[in-house]
Amino acid sequence: MSDNMKEKLEQILEEATQKIQESDALERLNDVRVNFLGKKGVLTGVLKSMKDVAKEDRPMVGQMVNETRAKIEAHLEETKARLEAALREARMAEEEIDVTLPARRREIGHRHPNTIALEEVERIFVGMGYEVVEGPEIEYDEYNFEKLNIPANHPAKDEQDTFYINKEIVLRTQTSPVQARVMEQGKMPIRMIAPGRVFRSDEVDATHSPSFHQIEGLVVDKNITFADLKGTLEEFARELFGENTRTKFRPHHFPFTEPSAEMDVSCFKCGGRGCRFCKGEGWIEILGCGMVHPHVFEMCGIDPEQYTGFAFGVGLERIALLKYEIDDMRLLYENDYRFLKQF
Ligand code: DAH
Repeated sequence: MSDNMKEKLEQILEEATQKIQESDALERLNDVRVNFLGKKGVLTGVLKSMKDVAKEDRPMVGQMVNETRAKIEAHLEETKARLEAALREARMAEEEIDVTLPARRREIGHRHPNTIALEEVERIFVGMGYEVVEGPEIEYDEYNFEKLNIPANHPAKDEQDTFYINKEIVLRTQTSPVQARVMEQGKMPIRMIAPGRVFRSDEVDATHSPSFHQIEGLVVDKNITFADLKGTLEEFARELFGENTRTKFRPHHFPFTEPSAEMDVSCFKCGGRGCRFCKGEGWIEILGCGMVHPHVFEMCGIDPEQYTGFAFGVGLERIALLKYEIDDMRLLYENDYRFLKQF
């Protein structure tokens, strides 16, 4: 009986070995594994027929089955390793790696047009000896309005309809409160710009946003005059928009400056003749400015008999839109990389 079995197992081993040798691909090898060693495989079949083997022969037959299995497995492993190695070799021979090919470039993002414009403005004023300072975006009503000569019920407060945190605290509507904060520190002279985010309860359209940026400027010293204001802002306009830029100061009203003005620059597109860009005006409005109001000085602890000063406020987005000829402010807030990388 066991001789019979032995013969049968030897035959199985021989058959398996041959099938393995014939396998020229990994999938075929796997078929062999399933056919011989799988649950319904030939060798498993032998194990199942053990019940027909005489009891005393069973241990020996069992051992023979195990040996046969081990041999087939060893064969399979060896052949698998060989086939895999051959596959790898073939792929290496086929694939050419060109080490001289330029690497795929990593995109590293792009500075926002607002940032580029702000850095330009900062460069100009730092070059004139100004300091760059910052103030809080969440501000006391007292600084945003009261200390800037805008008492409760003043109509200017309506124009800057804002977001109130509570009765005393607002999201600042302008960067002007930084003027009051710097003046209160009492370190003279003052020459500063204060860029930052401001908030107004405005509907979004091509020229409005509930959140935008301003750059405030303040100079306080003895004998500062309107001539200093004009000279400084004319120089600023020339550096920003080109040396042929002309400026025009129109009388205006701001509660915290007296006298106050708005500055226009000659259109840098048409040179002032009038074009689509300046809507035929030849001039483009750029900023508000004026001489610091004596009452503001007093509220901030500075003696208006000793000191005078000028201030100005510029919209950052406005400058970015003009400089880069962008016709819709909303593009600045969408952060679409395809848009941003053009500047
Ligand atoms: N804060 C003003 C605004 O938001 C702009 C401004 C005008 C600022 C005149 C100034 C200034 O410092 O002197 O409309």
